[in-house]
This record gives sequence, C-alpha cells and structure tokens, in this order.
Amino acid sequence: MSQAAVIDGKAFAADLRARVGVAAAAFEAKAGRKAGLAVVLVGEDPASQVYVRNKGKQTVEAGMASFEHKLPADTTQADLIALVERLNADPAVDGILVQLPLPKHLDEQAVVERISPNKDVDGLTPTSTGRLALGLPGLVPCTPLGCLMLLKDRLGSLSGKEAVVIGRSILVGKPMAQLLLAESCTVTIAHSRTQNLPDVVRRADIVVAAVGRPEMVKADWIKPGATVIDVGINRVPAAEEGKTRLVGDVDYAGASSVAGAITPVPGGVGPMTIAVLLRNTLVAAHRNAGVALEDQAL
Ligand code: GUN
Repeated sequence: MSQAAVIDGKAFAADLRARVGVAAAAFEAKAGRKAGLAVVLVGEDPASQVYVRNKGKQTVEAGMASFEHKLPADTTQADLIALVERLNADPAVDGILVQLPLPKHLDEQAVVERISPNKDVDGLTPTSTGRLALGLPGLVPCTPLGCLMLLKDRLGSLSGKEAVVIGRSILVGKPMAQLLLAESCTVTIAHSRTQNLPDVVRRADIVVAAVGRPEMVKADWIKPGATVIDVGINRVPAAEEGKTRLVGDVDYAGASSVAGAITPVPGGVGPMTIAVLLRNTLVAAHRNAGVALEDQAL
C-alpha cells in the first residue's frame, strides 16, 4: 500500500513567517512604526505560558513589536476589560489576543466582545464571526485559516470536494466549516452526538479533525486518497515509564497507509497558528494605519 504524502506545516509556517517578515519591514518603512501585537495571559496554565512565550518570540523575529501582559489568576473581569480597553485605544497595538482558556471565574465571551474588531487578530468577536458567515472580508481565526492554507497548497481548488470537519468549537470547527464552504466544498460538521461518525468521515475528500481526543480517527474511517488535516494536540503516556508524547486526533500510522496526504503531529497544523497570527496582525496593521498591503499572497 502506498504511503500518504506528509504535509509539512512546519516548513510552510516558516515560509509564511519569512514573507510576513519582509512585509513587516515594508510596513515599518511606510508607517514609521512597527506593527504591534499585544498578548494577554491570565493565570499560570503551563501550556498557555509556552504558547505565549513562543508568540512573543516569533513576533519579534518577524520584525514586529510584542506587548505581553501577564495578569494574576485572580484578576477580576473589570480589570481584564479595562486592560482590553486600554489596548483598544493604544495606537502602537494593531492586534489583541487574549489567551484562552481564561480562569473559570471570568466570562470569556464578554471579554472577547470588548476587543475592537479592527484589532481582533484571533477572529473571535461577533463582528469577525459575522463577517466570515456573510462572506465579507475580515480577520479569521488563525488555526482554521492555517488549515485552509495547507489544503489549498496541497490541492489547489477545493471546489466541489466533500469536506468533513470533526468538532464544532468556536476557535476551530465552526470557522473551518465556513472557510471550506466559502471555497465551495460540500461541508459536514460532525461532533460528539453525530451518529455513525466513521461512515460520515468515509465520505470525505477532506477530513479536518479537531476534537481533542487522542487518535480517535482510525484508518478505516478514511476514504482512500483523502487529505487529512489533524488539528489535535494531545499529550499521552509514552512507552517509556514517566514520559509523555504528543499525538493528534488521528491514528497517524494507520491513516497514513490510506490517505493521500496527512499532517503529522507535531509539525503539521501546530506551527501554522502563530504564523497566521503574525499574518493577521500585519493585515490589521495595514488597515489600522491606512497603508496598502502590497503582497496579496499573504
Ligand atoms: N488557546 C489555544 N489556541 C488559541 C487561539 O488560537 N487563540 C486564543 N486566544 N487562545 C487560544
């Protein structure tokens, strides 16, 4: 049996970051300031701390200004909203990302709604989600946009393809379905209540797995030749005592013998998220500064 092509998200993301870097330098020359991204982290969730550190580092490497705001776990809703409002008003800030999940006592939706749509580089405000649903230009959530870039790079036109998105989250599943619909795919959103999930997935030319269940999607769910995008990042016990390893939502070894192409974990979708965040920040900066974006390929 032939092996699926490996979709190298790590290399694609590095290339995208390099293009963003070139465009960021051009922006600075025209606008007289750097594009700026503010990241807000509340509390000490270890995974979130790693993401936020990587975001800051890659923002600076791309030639943009990084503003990190680390707040204690017991920050009040009012204080968090006051910070968001300050960032909304700060002309050095083009993009605002409030790292999710927030501690339980905070109302995520109420906080996100306060982010100015002009600075909503996460694409999570009602304005951004509404514009995506309406097919209007706007800022789109980073992970699904990264998945779409990988799919178009691999397949060219997606028109008419059967796409099954497993997962209906605000961050990935729902916007992914909207993006695929905008590319004229026939889109199914499957989720925890879907009946006969393997049969639904077997229809798909394109599978996007974003459920957060380690290796749930099996080889015999995959239509031969399908393109499989695995958004899952799950830490599971490794063979060696006391060690862990990362796996996706897809049984990679099994699916690789059936699929036409597949993203690995790690090194697939993961690196795309921050690269697209930097891209979104630069797009927002151009709009906020009234400067034309020359590289339409971004
Ligand atoms: N937590 C995990 N992924 C994301 C993301 O893309 N945006 C935000 N704000 N929080 C996250």
